[in-house]
Amino acid sequence: ARLVVLVSGSGTNLQALIDAIADDPQGFGARIVAVGADRDGIAGLERAERAGLPTFVCRVKDHETREAWDLALAEATAVYEPDLVVSAGFMKIVGKEFLARFGGRCVNTHPALLPSFPGAHGVRDALAYGAKVTGCTVHFVDDGVDTGPIIAQGVVEVRDEDYEDGGDALHERIKEIERRLLVEVVGRLARTGYRIEGRKVVFP
Ligand code: GRF
Repeated sequence: ARLVVLVSGSGTNLQALIDAIADDPQGFGARIVAVGADRDGIAGLERAERAGLPTFVCRVKDHETREAWDLALAEATAVYEPDLVVSAGFMKIVGKEFLARFGGRCVNTHPALLPSFPGAHGVRDALAYGAKVTGCTVHFVDDGVDTGPIIAQGVVEVRDEDYEDGGDALHERIKEIERRLLVEVVGRLARTGYRIEGRKVVFP
């Protein structure tokens, strides 16, 4: 299967995919054909370049409207004819055009146990609420914010010390689980195929 990975930040989830594929290119069942970003100068793009992967950048501010940006992102992604798109720390909500082309084929990872704490601050919000467990969710992207069908989740316990650093250490512990889960899920989707039945993701 062909993967396009979208990033906005440090790209450690992308790196986990790059490494897993490099470990066993045949066995993994998928390869990354391009990495896209919504901004320049991020470590995620450097990781892609270091791995010799084609990259593209699609910035909201270069477009007149959010819709125009969404269309440009969809077209830039479509160039690489992906079977699956992986949103790996991509901090933008995609729109209608993107979903028209890649709905049901776009996977996102979120650092909380959805449906709790959706949005850009999943880790901080879980702490602020006083949750004792949190974690990560890999799910399909739909037209809501972190609302699509859940594929897999991982649990992480909140520690008392987590209140001291605003959630940085907690986020790091979540990301360790998140990277493993994302690699496992993407590989499985690519290798076995899947069906989405309502809110349920069914593997054959
Ligand atoms: C991940 O925790 C992702 O869920 C969140 O941002 C983080 C991205 O990390 N939204 P990285 O860029 O893959 O290192």
